[in-house]
Amino acid sequence: MRTNNRREFLKNGALAGLGLISSNVLFASSTMEINKDSSLNFQETGKRLLGSGKHQLEVSAFGLGCMGMSYHRSFVPDRQVSINLIRKAAELGINFFDTAEAYGPWINEELVGEALQPIRKEILIATKFGFVDGTPAKGLDSRPETIRKVVDQSLKRLKTDYIDLLYQHRVDPNVPMEDVAGTVKELIQSGKVRNFGLSEASAENIRKAHAVQQVTALQSEYSLVTRQPETTVIPVCEELGIGFVPYSPLSRGLITGYINERTKYNANNDNRPALPRYQKDAIIANWTLIDALKDFGDLRGLTVAQVALAWLLAQKPFIVPIPGTTKLAHLKENFDSREFQFKPEELKELTAALDKIKIVGERAVGQQASQINN
Ligand SMILES: NC(=O)c1ccc[n+]([C@@H]2O[C@H](COP(=O)([O-])OP(=O)(O)OC[C@H]3O[C@@H](n4cnc5c(N)ncnc54)[C@H](OP(=O)(O)O)[C@@H]3O)[C@@H](O)[C@H]2O)c1
Repeated sequence: MRTNNRREFLKNGALAGLGLISSNVLFASSTMEINKDSSLNFQETGKRLLGSGKHQLEVSAFGLGCMGMSYHRSFVPDRQVSINLIRKAAELGINFFDTAEAYGPWINEELVGEALQPIRKEILIATKFGFVDGTPAKGLDSRPETIRKVVDQSLKRLKTDYIDLLYQHRVDPNVPMEDVAGTVKELIQSGKVRNFGLSEASAENIRKAHAVQQVTALQSEYSLVTRQPETTVIPVCEELGIGFVPYSPLSRGLITGYINERTKYNANNDNRPALPRYQKDAIIANWTLIDALKDFGDLRGLTVAQVALAWLLAQKPFIVPIPGTTKLAHLKENFDSREFQFKPEELKELTAALDKIKIVGERAVGQQASQINN
């Protein structure tokens, strides 16, 4: 992080904390200047709010998904490159960073902790518990004693004494949701955790959890190829004042045009080869979606990824996607998409066109499928 920018970031963060400048100023980037002269309908859309009341978090329009820097996205960049990228994200105005015990396991939390330690008070860290030994393939474990143990270990790895948002990574059918929420409630009372979240929980489980400990955010897969949350859980989040954090908002790179039927993966560190949507026939069949996004974006100076991300933001004000990347160019591209403001008519037309495209291939199979929407 360059000293001047870092100083500016810290100064702005401190001023915002004191309520002396508006968050729009805090999140304004150099693109503000471009806006003034641009003939395009870009707008600075600023911060978003997740949750409500005393469990509300003020976050940038996008968070940064850090998983792929260590886990499940084939290559792992040099560690210092990832640390620099995370710090650069903060410098650009991203204040919401996503990790989990399971990413690695453990090494992604260590990476995120090291990267963010110098600016810990200016940013928000979200992490997750919920698997045996932090390993999804070993099964689910949300027993109260495990949650307490994992939180202590996560705090060490993250080099911090509090977690801003602690998600249950997957619902554990063997532990009543009330017990999970009650355990997190105690952790909040002890100061180790500040807010509670769920991931891939059903409407019924969201309600059960929220009745015991207010839920700040639900993190579930949501993108232009996975639209089920629109009818299942997003309405519940809206009703209860819970934020919604779409994970894999670019469908693991699929909705960018970068992945095609010839793409090779490192099967030892990638879950995509095992998922139906990343099989050759499905990629070819679903290319109609890429074409539609490209047609829309070409006329407006947007990339395929930017249209896909701007579309997600346009769905609800409490939606905060967390695209993952290992590249500064993609980070900037993704974050800049917050500035595109759809005209109501063009949003309607694009959505109607996208609604007609039938997506080929299930989003998950086997153990992964059995662990979602519980
Ligand atoms: N709660 C859960 O169960 C769960 C599950 C999965 C993920 N997550 C969280 O969600 C985050 C994001 O999910 P994800 O990584 O699965 O999917 P994603 O954000 O939809 O896609 C990430 C992939 O897209 C590529 N990409 C990103 N921006 C791009 C751009 N502008 N142009 C071209 N390619 C681009 C990245 O490659 P490059 O590195 O080359 O840019 C990476 O391979 C994770 O980091 C994690 O924090 C949560």
